[in-house]
Amino acid sequence: MTAGSKHQDVLDWTNACWDRLPAHPELRGRAGEMAAKLAGEVAGGKLPFLALPFLNALANDLAELERAYLPRFEHMLLLGIGGSALGARALQKAFAPGQDLPGHAGKSLWIMDNVDASTLEAHLSRLPAEKTLVYVVSKSGDTIETIGQYFLVKQWLKNALPGAWKDHLLLNTDEKKGYLRQEAAQFGIRTLPVPDNLGGRYSAISAVGLVPAAFLGMDWRALARGFKSVAAPLAEPGLDARKLAVHPSFEFAVWAKALMDAGYSELITFFYIPQWASFADWFTQLWAESLGKDGQGSQPIPAVGVTDQHSVNQMFLDGPRNKACLFVERAEGPAGLPFPADMPEIFDYLQGKRFGELLPAEALGTRMALCQSEVPLLALRLGADDAERAGKMMALLGAATLLTGWLMGINPVDQPAVELGKRLAKARLGASGLVEEKTALAAFTGQAGGGTRDERGL
Ligand code: PA5
Repeated sequence: MTAGSKHQDVLDWTNACWDRLPAHPELRGRAGEMAAKLAGEVAGGKLPFLALPFLNALANDLAELERAYLPRFEHMLLLGIGGSALGARALQKAFAPGQDLPGHAGKSLWIMDNVDASTLEAHLSRLPAEKTLVYVVSKSGDTIETIGQYFLVKQWLKNALPGAWKDHLLLNTDEKKGYLRQEAAQFGIRTLPVPDNLGGRYSAISAVGLVPAAFLGMDWRALARGFKSVAAPLAEPGLDARKLAVHPSFEFAVWAKALMDAGYSELITFFYIPQWASFADWFTQLWAESLGKDGQGSQPIPAVGVTDQHSVNQMFLDGPRNKACLFVERAEGPAGLPFPADMPEIFDYLQGKRFGELLPAEALGTRMALCQSEVPLLALRLGADDAERAGKMMALLGAATLLTGWLMGINPVDQPAVELGKRLAKARLGASGLVEEKTALAAFTGQAGGGTRDERGL
């Protein structure tokens, strides 16, 4: 339980359907192997996302930024994509929802994680440069989507603020290599490091997510505290089979891999905390990019209650029986406004109730309906929806993803398959070299002849 809360944080395995997952005892038996692997990787500095060796230095940096730098700006324009953007967005939507509400007057965070030309122009024509901090996040420092935007935004800053543009840039990138690091060195731009071996999708609890959190005034210390409380035991010396076996991330990984082995090829993440909907997107990327390898994995499906009850839920309940569900809810939500006394008779059951009672009732209804449809379901029930719980959940899901990948026998921290599309796009844009890619492109687009095209009018 988290200090100051009256509800426990619970993983409810009641409907996990272990009886339909024959591989689970054998997978549980691998706790010793997994513990040894964890210990070895932690000792080799390969898992900073669990060991958090950078956290104290980062806390000092953040405190300094909060004191003397961030208060100068009203807008943060974050340039980043994938793991460099999704954690920040999840935190923003969960803990600084004001920007999506009428009458917003506080700070604003704008996350540019796409290359839509009109959206970039719209931002640059409306944002006041003198009140805007541009936060560029790229571990590699070379990602074309981010760097392409960076070139244009830097030019915009230079035009608007010829003497001060550098002061409006903060770069978060690899400590030694990559184009952004060169930029920082050449122009003396303020930077924060992405520690070695901290890959994008595992980096939300680092400067990647915590700088935007601090900018928006979130309780980033509680977030980090919650994260550490779940992650640190996995990085402690002396981790063994017995200790790992009782860590919830291992049980989750056993369940997830046993589900895959039993043919459950899709994993729904149903968030019944509406403001946490973007955590489902964060988890989707984490799970998909980490585990979709060697013909294995399970497709994550993000969903939010109650909205998606009127969208994809029919498919969840009565479509192919290949789905499992991680169901995230909180013990207690806001009470909401009372319903008025003068309601029509058919809505009598709402008399004397408050609006906040709809959500838990619908969550229960949907959870039970999923179970009755034989969807194996793990419920993560948080005592409250505060920053500390968000940190705990992020550590649980990050560690579970890693361990699931190891149980699958794949590398959960790389993403080799997505490289081809990136190389082809560069070839298409005329980058030097890439001869094979250019030849393959010409064949694919029919320019080299040979291929039979089949295009028809709409
Ligand atoms: O999770 C990942 O590793 C990726 O999604 C990266 O975050 C994404 O490709 C962006 O990479 P970078 O931070 O190097 O610009």
